[in-house]
Amino acid sequence: MEQSKIPSRGQWGSRLVFIFAAAGSAVGLGNIWGFPMNVAQNGGGAFVLVYLFFMFVVGFPVMLAEMVLGRAGEKNPVGALKNLKKGTPWYLVGGLGVFTGFVILSFYIVISGWTVFYFFQAAGGNLILPEGTAEAGVYFEEMYESMTANAGYEVVFMGIFLILTAVIVAAGVRTGIERAIKISMPLLLIILLILMFRALTLEGAGEGLKFYLVPDFSQLTFGTLNMALGQAFFSLSLGMGVMITYGSYLSKKENLPTSAGQVVSMDVVIAILAGLIIFPVIFFTVVVHGGDLDSLLMSGMGLVFQVFPQILGELPGGDGAVIFFSSAFFLLLGIAALTSAISILEVITAHLVDDWKIGRRKAAWLSSGAVFVVAIPTALGFGASAFFTNLPFAGGMSVFEVKYLLTFQILLPVGALGLSLFVGWVWGIPNALKEIQHETPTFVLKRTWCFMIRYVAPIAILIVLGSNLVSIFLG
Ligand code: PFF
Repeated sequence: MEQSKIPSRGQWGSRLVFIFAAAGSAVGLGNIWGFPMNVAQNGGGAFVLVYLFFMFVVGFPVMLAEMVLGRAGEKNPVGALKNLKKGTPWYLVGGLGVFTGFVILSFYIVISGWTVFYFFQAAGGNLILPEGTAEAGVYFEEMYESMTANAGYEVVFMGIFLILTAVIVAAGVRTGIERAIKISMPLLLIILLILMFRALTLEGAGEGLKFYLVPDFSQLTFGTLNMALGQAFFSLSLGMGVMITYGSYLSKKENLPTSAGQVVSMDVVIAILAGLIIFPVIFFTVVVHGGDLDSLLMSGMGLVFQVFPQILGELPGGDGAVIFFSSAFFLLLGIAALTSAISILEVITAHLVDDWKIGRRKAAWLSSGAVFVVAIPTALGFGASAFFTNLPFAGGMSVFEVKYLLTFQILLPVGALGLSLFVGWVWGIPNALKEIQHETPTFVLKRTWCFMIRYVAPIAILIVLGSNLVSIFLG
């Protein structure tokens, strides 16, 4: 029977499910919250171009490398690297990945918790400006601060989100993750398209598109390059073994290069779509309501949570439209965050299951418990605790900022560098090609990919990482 061929670790039902699960991991807060924020702060269209360049020239080769490692190593990042190069310390690169996942999840769930809070606000009609409110900006700023500075809200909403994630991961690859993905991904696409249609038909949309899509190269700095590479890795969930773990649940029949290409393309398309929603809406406020463009663009983390709801309230269509579009938007953000958080928890869980022989349920709940504890200081570092908000030993940065910078600028690039070196030079191209060509004898991009994974990706990462470290430590 077919059933008996399914290994006890679990296996995806089809290649399409694998693509959606990988895309579900990739598409997350990074696309809908982080990408527009980075574009806004780094000069618009020029940032978009550099980001696209990195997505395909560095992101695609590393994505394929991780999938190959997963399918060949048949385990989580630690177990897979151990299997492929027995008796060497290379599994430590996998260990770094699991650690990175732990750090990311311990701040990711905090922002994800905000989406839950805002979804309830939106659905309950609280994003409709009360009669007589003098300043919409002040109203939404107060709402944002009343959430971020409230220890109870921060911890409870992040907890709700984490429990949801853990329930799904504990249920397993087929019954948990696969089911969640099958519902969420189509829903996400539908909501995204509805919002985009609304945004693009607003007055001022053209101005927004111009800022977003027409590159002004005078805006490019070395800092822009750093942010674009970090954004590419984070957005594609690369450098910490998600794709290794997900690849390990893929059958030997499937075509890896096509899968990697499709996941990268879907991630790019959704980030671009998110920009097609946010920028027309921002420029609508500027053109029609006289909003201050610079302060809107530089609003940073609040762009989506503080500025966006304020703008939704100005949409034509009355209270009904506000409730509909704002609930849809935060539901979208929440779903995107959930499928990403699932993938991170899955890496940690798979490591405990494969390498420590702990049962899946226990592993999922144990790791969630640990993540929850480590996430508390992050949650309290948005105003609830003065100490965690301005860490004295970190130049006054918050716990969130420290964790975010650490993963974005150091841990993920180092992880991706380690994995490309492992595939390009240690485990080796012949082994990788054997795994790829197992079912794809005509791998069209063979030479290009080999060149990119051996030289282009590591060198690009080294340059960017080096400059990051210099700027972080030498100011
Ligand atoms: N790719 C996710 C996003 O764009 O929000 C975040 C993420 C998920 C990063 C999984 C890293 C990861 F391993």
